[in-house]
Amino acid sequence: MSLTHRSLFPLVPQADPAQEARQLHTEGGLVPVRLPGDVAAWAAVDHTTAQLVLGHPDLTKDAAYWPDLASGRVPDHWELIAVIRGAGMLHAGGDDHRRLRKLASSAFTRAPIAALEGRITEIAGQLLDDLAAADPREPVDLRDRFAYRLPVRVICEVLGVPDTAVSGLRDAFERLVTPQEDGAEDIRVAQAEIHRSLTALIATKRAAPGDDLTSALIQARDDGDRLSEEELVETLFLILIAGHETTLNLISSAVHALLEHPEKLAHVREAARGGSGGGTCPYAHGGGRGVRTDAGADDGSADTDAEADDTGVKADDTGVKADDMDTGMDTDIADPDDGIWTALVDETLRFSSPVRHALMRYAVEDVDIAGVRVARGEPVLAGLFAAGRDPGRHTEPDVFDPARPTRRDHLAFGHGAHYCLGARLARLEARIALAALFTRYPDLEAAGTPERLASISVQGVRALPVRLNAGR
Ligand code: HEM
Repeated sequence: MSLTHRSLFPLVPQADPAQEARQLHTEGGLVPVRLPGDVAAWAAVDHTTAQLVLGHPDLTKDAAYWPDLASGRVPDHWELIAVIRGAGMLHAGGDDHRRLRKLASSAFTRAPIAALEGRITEIAGQLLDDLAAADPREPVDLRDRFAYRLPVRVICEVLGVPDTAVSGLRDAFERLVTPQEDGAEDIRVAQAEIHRSLTALIATKRAAPGDDLTSALIQARDDGDRLSEEELVETLFLILIAGHETTLNLISSAVHALLEHPEKLAHVREAARGGSGGGTCPYAHGGGRGVRTDAGADDGSADTDAEADDTGVKADDTGVKADDMDTGMDTDIADPDDGIWTALVDETLRFSSPVRHALMRYAVEDVDIAGVRVARGEPVLAGLFAAGRDPGRHTEPDVFDPARPTRRDHLAFGHGAHYCLGARLARLEARIALAALFTRYPDLEAAGTPERLASISVQGVRALPVRLNAGR
């Protein structure tokens, strides 16, 4: 049955994603939805179906397969741009994707990320010192002052670019991720501004290379002619934006969830004061059935992708090594701090997926998914937030409980060939950020009700006003 002949569930950026997820779950695994701009699509909303969609061999991220886009029937709508068009490897398929990902992936494997731990801890400490200088009677926006600044500094250091590469473009980045209702033109202006800055930055790095990822990417292009100038800009752009917009929402959503769950906050305060912060805390039991040691399917149902013949965990023709693609879960289990902070990060990823819907896929052939026929060319979204709230997967999914055994059973970093390249870095940053924050300010409390971000692609709060209550 054609998508256009079904009644469509409207996905509304301003809607409460938890409420939306509850309603979607009553409609089935693959639900016909209407996106902003009045575009019809499918959304996979339970865990199994979302995982299947993310790795399905008959779904591609190449928008050329979407006839409505090619024929101009899709409106140039601001919200749609976020899930349809994008940069570099995230929207590439097949060999292009493998090549682009391979070039960037060496910086995100276990050893280089582990080596960043000390530096991330230092940056977190500096940012928390800066907060101490604020008037203690005034609320502080923790999202802006801490959750945002930490990943920005880290990713800029990894790329070897000045902080201003992001902070100077902050408005432009924010307009891209959560644009206002003033249309697609706004996004194009933001994109052009970012591209201009990155082109200038590449020229500077080319003249004076350093020991950093930007120089390595330039080198890879110049040596083997593998990255075009545009691909280079797109790759930098993707790593910069993915490197901070999502992690900032992970950190702020973790704090927000705790502030809304006083009994969990009490556990965290106790851990921060030395009560149960190490491996002996009540949460340190390994995380249940979601614990995986690779990025592949844990049920064998989704072990292929449109762009890869395998899960991406083998070092074969995908060009993607197991270490590039794994979830980082094994690292965390071996981590002496497999305690409250790691549990908190995992449960936040499940409870409050920073990516609300993963980017669009398109059917390359007619395909049956969750008992539904998706016709060739039809677009399909994976609802990562809804998957985390799947009642078939998690008991009382709307309860935030870092002790739940299924807390690692989420798709917040995607699945398959496009599995998040920065997952290990994001997890490390969030764990360090939360431990440092609550150790320093265990008595911090909410100072107002945060407003939700209105977006179908990202999920979190616009601001997180808190009182730090230092030295209470
Ligand atoms: C891809 C989530 C942090 C770099 C993805 C995808 C998701 C995701 C869901 C797959 C999208 C899809 O299949 O449509 C997250 C979350 C993060 C985070 C929740 C933080 C909490 C990061 C960081 C970096 C990063 C810190 C880099 C420094 C990337 C890249 C891709 C990606 C390069 C594209 C991979 C590919 O297409 O092969 N991320 N991400 N992400 N992420 Fe992340």
